[in-house]
Amino acid sequence: MGSSRILPSLVALVVSAISLADALSPAAFAQEPFDVIVVGGGTAGPVLANRLSASPSSLRVGLIEAGADRPVDPLINTPTAGNLLGNAHVGTLLGNPTYDWELKSAPQPALNGQELQYPRGKVMGGSSAINSMVWQRGSRADYDAWGTTFENGEEWNFDALLPFFMRSESWHPPEENAAPLFPSEHLNISAVAAFHGTEGPVSVTYNTYLTDLDAPAAQAAVKAAQVPPNSNPDGGADASMPATGTARTVTPNGLRHHAAAAYLSTEVRTRPNLEVLAEATVSRIIFETKKGKTKATAVEYVSGGKTYTVEVRKEVIMAAGAIHTPQILELSGVGNKTLLESLGIPVVLDLPEVGENLQDHPVTLSDFRVVPNVVTLDTLGYNSTFASEQAELYKSSRSGILTYTSAPLGPVPLQSMTTPEELAAMRKQLDEYIETSPEVTPFLKKQYDVLRDIVDKGEDGWVEMVLVPAGGVLSTPEAGKSYLTAVAIQLHPFGRGSVHIKSADIAEAPVIDPRFLELPWDFNVLVQGAQFIRKWVATEPLASYVDKIVTPPESTSTREDWEKYVRSVVRTTNHPLGTTAMAPRELGGVVDPALKVYGLENVRVVDASIIPLTIGVAIMPTVYAVAEKAADILLKEWKLDASTGTHTGKGLGEL
Ligand SMILES: Cc1cc2nc3c(=O)[nH]c(=O)nc-3n(C[C@H](O)[C@H](O)[C@H](O)COP(=O)(O)OP(=O)(O)OC[C@H]3O[C@@H](n4cnc5c(N)ncnc54)[C@H](O)[C@@H]3O)c2cc1C
Ligand SMILES: *[C@@H]1O[C@H](CO)[C@@H](O)[C@H](O)[C@H]1NC(C)=O
Ligand SMILES: *[C@@H]1O[C@H](CO)[C@@H](O)[C@H](O)[C@H]1NC(C)=O
Ligand SMILES: *[C@@H]1O[C@H](CO)[C@@H](O)[C@H](O)[C@H]1NC(C)=O
Repeated sequence: MGSSRILPSLVALVVSAISLADALSPAAFAQEPFDVIVVGGGTAGPVLANRLSASPSSLRVGLIEAGADRPVDPLINTPTAGNLLGNAHVGTLLGNPTYDWELKSAPQPALNGQELQYPRGKVMGGSSAINSMVWQRGSRADYDAWGTTFENGEEWNFDALLPFFMRSESWHPPEENAAPLFPSEHLNISAVAAFHGTEGPVSVTYNTYLTDLDAPAAQAAVKAAQVPPNSNPDGGADASMPATGTARTVTPNGLRHHAAAAYLSTEVRTRPNLEVLAEATVSRIIFETKKGKTKATAVEYVSGGKTYTVEVRKEVIMAAGAIHTPQILELSGVGNKTLLESLGIPVVLDLPEVGENLQDHPVTLSDFRVVPNVVTLDTLGYNSTFASEQAELYKSSRSGILTYTSAPLGPVPLQSMTTPEELAAMRKQLDEYIETSPEVTPFLKKQYDVLRDIVDKGEDGWVEMVLVPAGGVLSTPEAGKSYLTAVAIQLHPFGRGSVHIKSADIAEAPVIDPRFLELPWDFNVLVQGAQFIRKWVATEPLASYVDKIVTPPESTSTREDWEKYVRSVVRTTNHPLGTTAMAPRELGGVVDPALKVYGLENVRVVDASIIPLTIGVAIMPTVYAVAEKAADILLKEWKLDASTGTHTGKGLGEL
């Protein structure tokens, strides 16, 4: 890891949590009942808090977040600090207890028993405040499966979700200086524009600063993948390589735009019917069962070592994310009866699928040293003239390299990285597994049918290539040298994991077991991905920039070498989901199409946990769309005016 951390010394570090003038104390928050309590002020939580409190006369809404409120914080708000894999040159959000839950996975047998770092945002804005800001939409097939295969109805297909994607965003087209990444023969900007919203809370822009490696890397990736570029990657055709920079959640004035900045502006927070409580950890929901009906009546939380209980009249909305939502449900007595009884937790509802069906995108990566005088993020670390010029530029005009975020170059079909014979052998082995393994439940069988269809058609990407123009993640950079780290993300893994509590204590983290690469198929895909990275980087015009293959070393060549490397290097892309899936209860679902937990009268889940089957891109925009859709469902169900919920909270945030 690079040791220099220039940002704190260059930009005034205003990190003390802002105490918002009218925020209630933890004790005062518990005094009066709420109509709706939203658990978790992460990505989805602020959307619900905003939309449900928009009709002033109606609902009293409370939002409870475990992390601190940090609207003014350069590490969160300077885009470069949040680059994929972190950026050691400007300080790091990941593994930092001020922002991150600092979780670890269970030991992964297929990865030499490693316990992987498993970052999750613990701050107002949640993971949207610490993530890599990539803004993508999956393909039509990804979402249509929610409606058809998982039987949630037409309201949950691509066309029905599109207005909610658009409602969340204020999209800006790429600017002139990003032109090298948006060749008009590849991308049809007016077609892309027709699929984006321009009035929503979250600012979405494209990089305005490009490093020396961006354009060559994109051009080489298209050549290496040998698929026609996608003219509109956001229009439902995920298809092939778009060969463009991807959009990201950065404002036109160069600041990260996370969910709390976008949806919880001062104007929204000062609504008399909305209360936002930070630094309070929800420990359980309290239920009452009468005449066979189980209803949430209160929420318990811990703050400053004290435990409080606040009453709820109408609804509890779980938005604590794919790891903590199942944890809190289990702590509340909703989950696998055998597990709960073994921990001494009174069983409210036996719902063993809570915490099952965990899906995540595993990733492999390699790093390369580049020739002298190539500007990358590393230049900030070894050229102090450049670093102070850029800091000054950022301060005066919010432009330059500190606004840069690394952007995926697009998903590549598996057909681009395997020979037909290799792919046929992999598919045969996969079919045998699906037919014979006792682990393949009817729910999994349905998921696998969707996935096999996607891989066989070869129209949607299966592995995504990302350029990170920096080193320091895999090897220690040599002084004065620039690097590139090339990444291959597996977008449609077949392996499934779980997340479950191991104690009745909220302070103890749950056991997160993604079970990465246990299936030969998943392992083989990333072995192919790791080798494809080599091919990509060896393709012109990128090849001329590279002067040394660093990790894995150039000598890595046999199949055995690559397998060994992949087992040592694979990690998470931080996209866990599916742990309270939206699907019929008989099939293994936990929530219904109105996102209500089966068997409970008034508890919904609105976060990444409900997504039944992972999608072929980064998942944050989908979480926003689900949250916007959920708010719409609730306002309609409660006969409140949904239209007042739009166009508010367009705050731009501060450094
Ligand atoms: C490092 C990283 C990089 C990523 N990069 C990208 C990217 O570039 N693009 C993309 O699309 N996606 C990315 N993702 C994924 C994306 O950010 C998440 O999937 C998405 O934000 C999840 O939203 P959520 O609302 O489900 O959960 P979160 O945003 O994680 O929100 C959950 C919130 O609940 C709070 N909480 C948890 N437990 C409790 C409790 N007991 N009491 C009170 N509050 C609690 C948490 O502190 C958190 O604020 C990344 C994620 C990470 C971690
Ligand atoms: C670009 O998209 C627009 C809108 O969909 C369409 O009218 C136009 O013909 C497209 N241009 C090209 C070159 O395909
Ligand atoms: C419930 O938990 C027990 C104990 O952990 C486990 O053996 C069992 O398989 C689980 N049941 C289901 C349906 O997941
Ligand atoms: C350092 O950056 C400055 C300003 O961008 C540039 O002029 C100079 O050539 C760089 N020096 C080195 C050694 O790269």
